[in-house]
Order: sequence, then structure tokens, then C-alpha cells
Amino acid sequence: MPKRRYLIAANWKMHKTLEEARTLTREVSRGLTWGLKAEVALAPPFTALAAVAEELAGSDIRLAGQDTFWERQGAYTGAISPAMLQDVGCHYVIIGHSERRQYFGDTDQTVNRKLKAALGAGLCPICCIGESLQERQAEQTLARVGKQLEEGLADLSPLTGEQLVLAYEPVWAIGTGLTATPGQAQEVHAFIRSRLREILGAAAEDVRILYGGSVTPDNAASLLAEADLDGALVGGASLKAPSFLGIVTAAG
Ligand code: PGA
Repeated sequence: MPKRRYLIAANWKMHKTLEEARTLTREVSRGLTWGLKAEVALAPPFTALAAVAEELAGSDIRLAGQDTFWERQGAYTGAISPAMLQDVGCHYVIIGHSERRQYFGDTDQTVNRKLKAALGAGLCPICCIGESLQERQAEQTLARVGKQLEEGLADLSPLTGEQLVLAYEPVWAIGTGLTATPGQAQEVHAFIRSRLREILGAAAEDVRILYGGSVTPDNAASLLAEADLDGALVGGASLKAPSFLGIVTAAG
């Protein structure tokens, strides 16, 4: 079976002014003009989505939101709906990032509501799961990830594999410079795919499972060589064009 097309997604988190976002977008798209093998997506902060969308006009690079609320519209101060992300040109939306879970109260239940709303609006969610350091040390990794999948993906309407992306991000590896070894990552990715088969059926074979957590140009190729690693969700190394492009290049 041909391998799923890699997706390399940049998560800029709470970084970049409008001008900086435009500049980085131009640098990344210029760096890719030789043709894209991997699919590339950029997730700027909400304030820069429209500007980045403008810079990406006519490009294959896809736009992503970093979060969404589940309601379509209404009196929800500070929130952004899936329909708004669609309207500004997003194809993807990151849901359930560990920082949203840690600082903004996301739970497996709210992740589930957000996933359903995003799918309903025609967005492709990038759903993040992963264990804490304590959970890894207590050998609870697979139990934690299994529960996040079961509750996060509960009662979804039938899907094709292209409609959903998963991201395995061990919390202890995010922004710490510690990376899961390729073997550690593959073990969890294979487990995720086996649970996806139970939850989604045959569509599981086409769902891309990204790895995230201190991915750099130096470690990307060895991670991506693993059978069930289908790309990367990149934080720190996505904030500068050379390191992000280095990761895209490592994907082939
Ligand atoms: P990092 O972040 O690459 O800085 O570890 C990854 C993420 O949070 O998605």
C-alpha cells in the first residue's frame, strides 16, 4: 500500500505580528517553489489568518486554525466558530492541543464537541492527543491515549480517512527539546492506528497520524521513516523559515 502523503503543519502558537506573519509565509512559500511532495499547512494566530490567507492565494500551502469553539455563532465573547475559520480560508483546525487542555480547560468531552462542529463545517480537524511525563513514567501512555481517542472521537458520523488527522504529541516533548525516539513514537502511532480501526473501520488506513514534540530538521527524517508516522506538527522550529523548510525537506 502506498504511504499516506506526509503533512507538515506549522503551529505558530501565540507568535507573530501581522507583518512578521506575512514575511514568514512568503519565506516558506518561496522555499517550496520546487514543488511539494509533502503537504504543508500553516496555523497562525487568529489575528493573522486573513493576512496569511492573502499571502497564500494561489499556493498549495493550506491554512489552519489553532482552535475553534463548537457553536456556529452567538453570544460567546472571544470565541471563533468553525464557520468563521472556513470563511477566512482554513482547511484544517487544530483541536485539543495539550496547551488548550492545560491552560484553557479543554477536556476529551469538549474536544469531541469541537471535532463534531469542525467536521460539520467541512474543516479537517488535526486532533491532538498525548500523555504527560508522569503518565509515561507510570506506564500509562497507551491507556491515556486510548481514552483520549475513545472519548474524543465518540459518536462521530462515518468519515473518510482524508477528513481527519491525528497528532500524537507527548506533553513532555513539547517545547522541551526532548523528543520521543522513533521507536517510542512508532509504538504509540501503531497503537493509535489499531484503535482507529476499531472506531472508524477501514478509514483508519488513510488517517494521517502526525508526531509533534520538539521536531527539528535533525530528527525529522528518522521519525518520518517509521511506518505509522505520517507527518509532523511543528511548534518552535516552525517560527523560522529555514528550520521549517528543513523539516519539509526531510519529509522528501
Ligand atoms: P514544539 O511544539 O515543536 O515546539 O515542541 C509542538 C506543538 O506543540 O505542536
